[in-house]
Amino acid sequence: MPAPLPPPVHCAYRHGMSPTVTHDDAARVNVLSSLNAYISRQLSPGVKLAFQRDVEPRLTPADTDLNDPKVRAGATVREKIAPNPVYQAWASLRRNTQEMNRQNARHIAIGQMDDLKARAAELGRNQEGLSLDPATPIPRYLELADNHLQPGGYHAEITPGDMTAAATYDIATFVTAMGSFSAKGDSGGRAVAAWMKWHFPDFRPKRILDIGAAHGNNTLPLAAAYPDAEVVALDAGAPMLRYGYARAQSMGFTNVKFVQQNAEDFDANLGTFDWIQSTMVFHETSTAGLRKIMARMFAALNPGGVTLNLEQPNFTAETPVYDRFLRNWDAWYNNEPFWVQLHEMDMPAELVRAGFAREKCFEGGVNPDIEPGHYPPWTAKLSRHDHEHAKPVTGKTGYNGEGWYLFGAWK
Ligand SMILES: C[S@@+](CC[C@H](N)C(=O)[O-])C[C@H]1O[C@@H](n2cnc3c(N)ncnc32)[C@H](O)[C@@H]1O
Repeated sequence: MPAPLPPPVHCAYRHGMSPTVTHDDAARVNVLSSLNAYISRQLSPGVKLAFQRDVEPRLTPADTDLNDPKVRAGATVREKIAPNPVYQAWASLRRNTQEMNRQNARHIAIGQMDDLKARAAELGRNQEGLSLDPATPIPRYLELADNHLQPGGYHAEITPGDMTAAATYDIATFVTAMGSFSAKGDSGGRAVAAWMKWHFPDFRPKRILDIGAAHGNNTLPLAAAYPDAEVVALDAGAPMLRYGYARAQSMGFTNVKFVQQNAEDFDANLGTFDWIQSTMVFHETSTAGLRKIMARMFAALNPGGVTLNLEQPNFTAETPVYDRFLRNWDAWYNNEPFWVQLHEMDMPAELVRAGFAREKCFEGGVNPDIEPGHYPPWTAKLSRHDHEHAKPVTGKTGYNGEGWYLFGAWK
């Protein structure tokens, strides 16, 4: 069976801040994307086979006893499969592909540091929609490890005004997601906006806050869906916000502000909101951080307002030990340390702890919403995790374990 090919980098949407990708850059980016597809589609089934043949027959009842936190985390399978050569080849290739991807994107971005600054200065001339506070403390969980192996994380600044962290993230995420985050990297935001319009067509938020917005890739679909709303994109990382503001200007958005603050205790001067969104943020916080952010969300929501959060789905009692190992693999080898704890959390219970009423909490699911018209028909729909892109999410309410997990509450 031929390896499915992801969309090449020239199919990514080019906004006013997109780094220039030379012929050689594009070749590297495309090879890395294809390598990711090869690992996911061709090699990962081999790891499952290695597990079934080599590890599963040797598992004792204690190895599958979900009362043991180690078993629940998939760590027992990880230890037992570690000496297997098929697993070793797969794991080192997967880790190194991610290292190469992030280093390659960082190399492309750093080479254009001054050009990016010049473009941002031109695009964001009045700076009205950008509010940076250099005193913002970077939470420890963002500083401790470079998430998903991106050197310097979201906040590193090599020179004053640097925004190469965001340019790196923009290129590298296209590769990691193999294009499944859509040409503008906005498939989460598009899906969330469509979900809201479908379920609550009469909801008319006047103010929307997107926390952990990074460079606003998933914020802009909310601003597009609700053009009369004032939208605030909040993040701790200044490089993401500088780049995001200029990017949004280049795409013609006038209703989005970019604000640097810690989501755990953002300033009351930001006001209150009708909708507080987070998209793929909580898997990179900590339990204490998540709880503080949720409490702050509750406090900053207007009565009748809603919080909506998009994340990787959590484990259930039915999640097999092999899937637990595979889905927690990123915690150990892709610098996503909080995934283990997050996968075990009861999100509605966390919302209740933050102050929301149990009966006002809800769960649902969405698939990545890929904007049509950018990718050639021969490209494959790919993802690193089987449950993403699985079956179309059906049903008006509730979560069926497929696609991305949506949870939230009305106040
Ligand atoms: C995985 S990225 C997701 C970005 C974006 N929402 C998206 O959908 O692509 C997580 C973002 O959350 C931000 N973040 C995490 N914890 C934060 C906190 N306590 N305060 C502000 N931003 C935070 C990080 O800086 C990073 O930009």
